[in-house]
Amino acid sequence: MLPPELEQKLLEHANYFPRREQAILLCLHEVQDYYGNIPPFALERVAQILGLPLNHVENVVSFYDMFDRGEPARHRIRVCVSIVCNLMNKQRLLDAIRKHLGIGVGEVTKDGRFKLIAVQCLGACSEAPVFMVDNDTYKFESEEKLYEILSKYT
Ligand code: FES
Repeated sequence: MLPPELEQKLLEHANYFPRREQAILLCLHEVQDYYGNIPPFALERVAQILGLPLNHVENVVSFYDMFDRGEPARHRIRVCVSIVCNLMNKQRLLDAIRKHLGIGVGEVTKDGRFKLIAVQCLGACSEAPVFMVDNDTYKFESEEKLYEILSKYT
């Protein structure tokens, strides 16, 4: 059983749509925002609420790189590694994150504050190189600006 406040939100999403399964992405985002990842027990509950087979929900989670079944952190930094950001030197951004936080892709800081994830195009190519912290999108301008942004996420 999930915490009542999370359960309530999932039911609200499921009941909002004519067909419950249409709420699948909203429900998965809700779970990830709550736990910092998608734990197996929550995946099972989402499948129950939406009336879907568990493997269907698992396939959706596997398909989208925005969903994370690995080690959780309080905040997720998602760095775009698609072609435009790659050409605009996303490596400088990754290096600055490693320098400041001591983590590489797929790793979590020792204090559990940040996890670094490489993702495909975030749809903001004109701002490349681009990264997100939780649901906020940023252009990488300089190391100093990056550190200032990260300091807002405690
Ligand atoms: Fe990075 Fe599109 S290629 S945001």
